[in-house]
Order: sequence, then C-alpha cells, then structure tokens
Amino acid sequence: MRNLLDTTSLTLEEALRILDVAEDMADTQRREVKKLPTLRGKTIVNLFFEDSTRTRISFEAAAKRLSADVINFSAKGSSVSKGESLQDTAQTLQAMGADAVVIRHGASGAPRTLATSGWITAGVVNAGDGTHEHPTQALLDAFTIRKRRFGDASRGKTLDGVRVAIVGDILHSRVARSNLWLLHTLGAEVTLVAPPTLVPQDVSAWPARILYDLDEAIASGPDALMMLRIQSERMNAAYFPTEREYARRWGLDAARLAALPADSIVMHPGPMNRGLEISAEAADSPRATMLEQVANGVSVRMAVLYLLLAGDRAEHAGAGEG
Ligand code: NCD
Repeated sequence: MRNLLDTTSLTLEEALRILDVAEDMADTQRREVKKLPTLRGKTIVNLFFEDSTRTRISFEAAAKRLSADVINFSAKGSSVSKGESLQDTAQTLQAMGADAVVIRHGASGAPRTLATSGWITAGVVNAGDGTHEHPTQALLDAFTIRKRRFGDASRGKTLDGVRVAIVGDILHSRVARSNLWLLHTLGAEVTLVAPPTLVPQDVSAWPARILYDLDEAIASGPDALMMLRIQSERMNAAYFPTEREYARRWGLDAARLAALPADSIVMHPGPMNRGLEISAEAADSPRATMLEQVANGVSVRMAVLYLLLAGDRAEHAGAGEG
C-alpha cells in the first residue's frame, strides 16, 4: 500500500487485509509491553490543518506503539498561518526525511494533491479532508462492527448482510462518505437517515437507501445505528429550525434507544454533542461502542502505518513479534 486516501478505491481484499492486520495489532495491545519494534527508524509526521483531538492522538499512539518517531505539526501557530503554502510545508517535511505524512485538511482533495504532487516521496494517509473522506475512521468503525459480531473469530469475515443506518448530518460528513463506500464493499446494507436539508443534492449513485424518518429506520431493526455529529462549523445556513427541534426529530433519545433491537449497537465517531444528536442515556448505554471505537482506532491505524511503511518488505506475521 502506497497511500490511504479514501475508501472508495479500496478493494474487498485490501479492506480485509487492513482489518485482519488490525486484529493482529489489537492482539499485541493486550500484552503487558505494548510497543513493537516494527517501525524503528521511521519518521511519521502528523500534519493537522484542522482541529482534532482523538484522531491526532490516535495516530500518534499508533506510530509510537510501532516505535516510529512522531512529529506533530499543527497548522495553528505554524508558518501556515503566515501564509505558507501546502507545497512549501510538504517540501520542508520531505527535507526532514518524513517517511509518512498523516494529513487532516479543511479542503477536500488536499491529501490526494499531496500524494500526487511529486513534492514528497512519503506515503500519505488521509486523516479527514473537508467533507470528502476519513478512511481510517470508516475502517475502525467496520472493525468495531465486525468485532461485536464475530468476536475472536473476526479474521477474514466480511459484513455481508449487516444492516447499518447512518443518521444525521450526512451533507457535511466525511465519516458518512467513507463508511458508505467501505461498508458497501464489505457487503453491508447501508441506510442514510437525515432531514432532506442534510442529504447531499445528488445521491442517486450512492449504494444506499435514503430515509427521512428516524423512527422508520429504527423500526426496520438495524444492526448498527451510527449517529453523526451536527457539524455547525461547516454550516453557513440554517439547515433545521432549532437544536431542540433537531433533537426531537433526529436525536437518539431514551425512547428510540429502547425501540432498537436488543442486540443492535450505537456508534458515534466523536466528538458527541450530548443532548443534540445523541442523549446521555444512549451515549452511556452498554450498546454504545464509542470507547471501543477509540481503542480499535489505534489498532487500525497501527495496521495502516505498518502496511504503508513495512508491508512491502516484511510479512505481517513479523509485526506480532517482539
Ligand atoms: C470526525 C471528523 O473529524 O470528521 N471526528 C473524528 O475524526 N473522530 C467526525 C466529526 O468531527 O464529527
């Protein structure tokens, strides 16, 4: 694997390979000594032009558990805020000897620009670009669904026939887009649930059923309900009357939680707006997977960094050693 820019272009084989290597990584994280020597001597740069807590920390933890050196570069307080271009920043990183660049950027397509520009030879991982994609989030979500379903027997399994409803601010969500494509590739059936104002204009080519009623989606008994954050920072207009009204019609409250089938799970990529898209009852219930998603995120990012930086010269069995 040279880069990870999106899930749209991941094949089933590639997706399963990442998820299965992530299983190996998760196994190593149950040991007392969690650090593997696999990426010793490699330098990974976290290049974050947008705010992030969990994604940046997760990539940092993943890189460190593989013994790579990590440089955190956040655009605030850097020369980017003085007007330095992506090209100049990238060339600086190249001169410093970065082997991989993990980039989050407000502009959709920035990771691809970086990967195809010729400015750097490092592999590029998209950690979220505008409203476009967030592939490692979708991979950790798929990993979490698979783990809840198959437990220790997850390796090699697809999500064939698993029914996932993605609810809320689809319009602004790169998490929804990356999940849609990956879940589809893995054989899951995806339903997008949102008010009409928060569904993108042309979704006719998307492999998903669209519903405008959360209660209808819940009544159809999804295996996983993925609640999305209302992304106020990307909203330049009023997409719903009031927050109260949104919570009433689109929020996962206690009554809706109780109406879900007993074994269905509740997911959220974080950060959550408690009381808006998700109630405290739902967020804190045993069917909520948010903390598993965070923990699994480290394993999935370890797998991605490993496949990017070591996968071509070592068989992944070696990743478990040491
Ligand atoms: C998501 C993101 O940044 O796209 N968060 C994350 O990576 N954990 C979703 C969001 O911000 O709502």
